[in-house]
Amino acid sequence: MRIHKKIALITGAARGIGAATTRLFHQEGAMVIISDIRDEEGYKLRDELKDRTEYLHLDVKEENDWKSAIDQIISSYGRLDILVNNAGITGFLESTGPWDAENTDLQSWEEVFRVNSTGVMLGCKYGIQAMKSHGGSIINISSRSGVVGIPGAVAYAASKAAVRNHSKSVALYCAEQGYKIRCNSVHPAAIMTPMWDDMLGEGEQRMQIIKEIEYGIPMGHFGEPMDVAYGILYLASDESKYVTGIELTIDGGILAGSEAKPRNQNS
Ligand SMILES: NC(=O)c1ccc[n+]([C@@H]2O[C@H](COP(=O)([O-])OP(=O)(O)OC[C@H]3O[C@@H](n4cnc5c(N)ncnc54)[C@H](O)[C@@H]3O)[C@@H](O)[C@H]2O)c1
Repeated sequence: MRIHKKIALITGAARGIGAATTRLFHQEGAMVIISDIRDEEGYKLRDELKDRTEYLHLDVKEENDWKSAIDQIISSYGRLDILVNNAGITGFLESTGPWDAENTDLQSWEEVFRVNSTGVMLGCKYGIQAMKSHGGSIINISSRSGVVGIPGAVAYAASKAAVRNHSKSVALYCAEQGYKIRCNSVHPAAIMTPMWDDMLGEGEQRMQIIKEIEYGIPMGHFGEPMDVAYGILYLASDESKYVTGIELTIDGGILAGSEAKPRNQNS
């Protein structure tokens, strides 16, 4: 019961890391507002959890959706304590690319930024307004790609870097204003969710690509959505009451080192 009776809103919560976080928050006693654009999957998750949950359609790139979601939460529950800005896209499915720095097109770039960066900015804006009288915790889901460059996914990487930096601005702004709102970013990598499906393909090819990726992960395997959910829970709970503006990396050790590591060929 680490977040007993807290009111939590999670974006992109119908599947993957958002759904795992919803389940964990629910287990830890929170009232969880599941939001997404995948209405069918969102309602299914709500029906599975039954009590202390509701589903709201919230497209994070639409300011009007944010206004009405927050209005609805305040009128139903009187406050918002936790906001997890989790919704994100690689862009690989949503637009045609290409995705490298030399050839990427404006439309693909803007689509990814609109969801990943503008969506988080809007969430923080309305989250702060909803929380400032009583305090709260905002957790923004960035990525390992928000810290290092990804030559084959430039829009994704740059949009996640914007999330990393904006989280720090939000943290400092709230502290300056004397609002009791903390804001932190979480940086997952290689977590097995449906986001990977189009990148991995199917059958034999999928197994081969998974093997190649796992070779580059120091711990040797993909993480699970719950591995990230537990980190988010810590930042959401009062256990982290002195923690703001940090980056919590959950990546099996990927960011701890470098691919070009010096090696003793004799060992
Ligand atoms: N899985 C990983 O390895 C990994 C690594 C680094 C970062 N992340 C980040 O974690 C977050 C969750 O990713 P995931 O792996 O669970 O992906 P996922 O694709 O399984 O889930 C993302 C969810 O976001 C929702 N969504 C997409 N666009 C939306 C919009 N405009 N408004 C509201 N919801 C929208 C989708 O419908 C989906 O339910 C994302 O921000 C992602 O970038 C994931």
